[in-house]
Amino acid sequence: MNLSMNHTENHIYVIFGASGDLTKRKLVPALYSLFVQNLLPEKFALLGTSRSSLTNVEFRQSMKESILEFKEIDDETGIEEFIGKLYYTPIGFDEVATYIALREQLNFIRQDLEIGGNTVFYLSTPPSLYGVIPQQLAAVGLNHQDDGWKRLIIEKPFGYDLESALQLKDQLLKDWAEEQIFRIDHYLGKETVQNLLVTRFSNGMFEPLWNRNYVHHVEITSAESLGVEKRGGYYDSSGALRDMVQNHLLQVTGLTAMEPPSSLEPAAIRNEILKVFQSLRPIRREDVSKVAIRGQYLTSTIKGKPVPGYREEPGVSTGSLTETFVALKFYIDNWRWGGVPFYIRTGKRLPTRVTEVVIHFKPTPHFLFSNEKYLQPGNQLVIRIQPDEGILLKFGMKTPGAGFEVQNVNMDFHYSGLSNQRIPSAYERLIYDSIKGDATLFARTEEVLEAWKFLTPVIEAWKNDRKVPLFGYPAGTWGPDTADDLIEDQEMTWRYPCKNLSDDGIYCEL
Ligand code: BG6
Repeated sequence: MNLSMNHTENHIYVIFGASGDLTKRKLVPALYSLFVQNLLPEKFALLGTSRSSLTNVEFRQSMKESILEFKEIDDETGIEEFIGKLYYTPIGFDEVATYIALREQLNFIRQDLEIGGNTVFYLSTPPSLYGVIPQQLAAVGLNHQDDGWKRLIIEKPFGYDLESALQLKDQLLKDWAEEQIFRIDHYLGKETVQNLLVTRFSNGMFEPLWNRNYVHHVEITSAESLGVEKRGGYYDSSGALRDMVQNHLLQVTGLTAMEPPSSLEPAAIRNEILKVFQSLRPIRREDVSKVAIRGQYLTSTIKGKPVPGYREEPGVSTGSLTETFVALKFYIDNWRWGGVPFYIRTGKRLPTRVTEVVIHFKPTPHFLFSNEKYLQPGNQLVIRIQPDEGILLKFGMKTPGAGFEVQNVNMDFHYSGLSNQRIPSAYERLIYDSIKGDATLFARTEEVLEAWKFLTPVIEAWKNDRKVPLFGYPAGTWGPDTADDLIEDQEMTWRYPCKNLSDDGIYCEL
């Protein structure tokens, strides 16, 4: 992070859902890391609130343990000073009286520490509360900015479908201005997702090729080797399309496909992403089965260990039709991308954890060197978002020896080789930006609504049409085989960075 930009204003950070998993694993460790790096202001307090009745002392102790367990930074020297800035107050999320108590508690901390009125409200709660909490805060005047800025950070999902997202939007905008609302999409906080912008727009050599004349298709894969773990209850009412595609993967598509922004101003970047979303070719209801493949993982054995199927996971209904895998084909109807298919694939319990954008370039118009070993005709630029962040260029080289045998070779850059500087986590980056009031890496209402609009035909067909198949796939494989048929050109396939699970289960091949 750029320390020269480290001016942040005094404020109180309020976390709703402070006894939850996200607070423990990500939010508080990220805030501690900012504190250690002197990126928090001199006067700062964190007020946690949730239904649990905890004292300040208990909350501090629990957060200390989380900071040590889910370490963001290898420096424990500031931990006592940091947890001294933590406070807790219980709340009944829809009880007016408790918001009055919250306001009093905030006033007390403000006066005691001379912090002033700047406040961030982070909603790390079940989505059903995203409308209620901001409304209640406004009812006790905690949205007013006369004594300092007030910002609302909302986790995904923003709505459950287009209709509920529109309702939530109207509900929020009654009391809060768009500039006060920060919709978090933690993929935008990932260093290598931001690097998409830098790779594209700081190099003269990629951009001329980045269009329909040279690109055959674009693939965006986000594979996870884990199952739904303890989140079966949430996931079963969400599914991979809502959980990963509507937000994270469409945002990555936006950054991959956007036009150069006029500047690095938040509005300039977000306008270009929005234009991509507005250019997504609507999916026709009758085409859903052809362009959207859904799958659900089945019980299997991975590395000798039995793994439950999705329907056996805790919190999941035994007859669940929720998808844990999605593969989607779509087009962006604009001058740059007209006719270029985009393929998105994501799933749980796949062979490895990897997220990458692959630009598949068109093959040469006439291939002189055909030989059996050179099976993949095009060049590929692989932008690895995680893990082992970096960039890989695949191209053909002469195999040493007689004749003109060609083989694929890789030119490979690993982000870790750039410097010893630690890469901040996505949450650290986004929390820091929210404190500075920089909304560049947060999703704007229109983007979220366009994304829902685009996916509505798929959501409706999957919900209402029993004829649209849900394919099973054994846990630990790359999803249903049918997903391969999405790719039009028979000579091209998805990139399989890892065919089988490696011994350590991490990323196996570049
Ligand atoms: C979350 C989803 O938003 O992103 C999870 O709710 C998913 O289901 C996670 O596992 C993936 O994030 P990351 O950063 O591990 O790729």
